[in-house]
Amino acid sequence: MRKISAASELSASLKSYIIAGKSIGFVPTMGALHRGHQSLIQRSVEENEVTVVSIFVNPLQFNNAEDLKKYPRVLEEDVLLLNDQKVDILFCPNESELFPTQPIISVDFGYLAQSLEGKYRSGHFEGVGVIVSKLLHIVQPDRAYFGLKDLQQFILIRTMCVDLNFPTEIIGVETVREESGLALSSRNRRLSSHGLNSATVIFSGLQLIKNGVKKGIPLKSLLVEAEALYNEKKEFELEYIEAVNAENLKPIDDYDELNELAVCVAGYVEGVRLIDNLYLRLK
Ligand code: PAJ
Repeated sequence: MRKISAASELSASLKSYIIAGKSIGFVPTMGALHRGHQSLIQRSVEENEVTVVSIFVNPLQFNNAEDLKKYPRVLEEDVLLLNDQKVDILFCPNESELFPTQPIISVDFGYLAQSLEGKYRSGHFEGVGVIVSKLLHIVQPDRAYFGLKDLQQFILIRTMCVDLNFPTEIIGVETVREESGLALSSRNRRLSSHGLNSATVIFSGLQLIKNGVKKGIPLKSLLVEAEALYNEKKEFELEYIEAVNAENLKPIDDYDELNELAVCVAGYVEGVRLIDNLYLRLK
């Protein structure tokens, strides 16, 4: 694996692959890698001749300075983990490389960014849009891999690439979980073992809804039940639980007519913000 920090060097080394007609897969990350990231990388390695992984903690997407400061940075550990996968290039630029000047241009995701996370993290998706656009332009991959754990991010990026003719196919990869059901996240590193245990309630609430949908129970009563479960767990501070049409992220009251349902949850455990979702194809 080659470790590159200059965008110009990355473009130069990718050129030989492009000339040779090799397919390029790309996995953008912010590091503190875990099995969730690894499953994206594995998928890229399986489907492409060359895989590029990036690690960059993007300041533009943090609306909370404290959260940015506390974000885990463990590059040496990450490199060890990547050496075990068939990654060809690790791109880990520093901030001045990617942002020599503060960008003036942003990405407006329209109504897609106004629900769910967009409501609670002002400016977050604009920051994601800028960094992902920059990275896709630098790497020029055939395919880029995003986790369905960040469902809204995946839908926004996929729509951006279609609407603005980015020549990259955006592929969504299933959420990887602990045996307890807790979705893997770099932020889980900040939780104590008690916190990790408390956080499993997020998945329990989503499972309750999944089982209820299978039985045809109305969505509204399932949401009330899940919310009650969350409120009972005093270590978990619920920020929101919301059901949306997963095709357009618009809020819904029932799932009768839907093709794809998503129920998204965000909340805090030990001051750490966690998100998860249930994504169901109904037809
Ligand atoms: P990061 O949180 O590091 O996540 C990188 C990718 O891994 C994202 O596509 C995310 O959805 C995916 N991922 C995280 N946890 C996962 C899990 N448990 N199962 C499957 N996939 C998982 O998301 C970002 O970074 C940034 O916003 C980024 C896209 C890199 C732009 O800065």
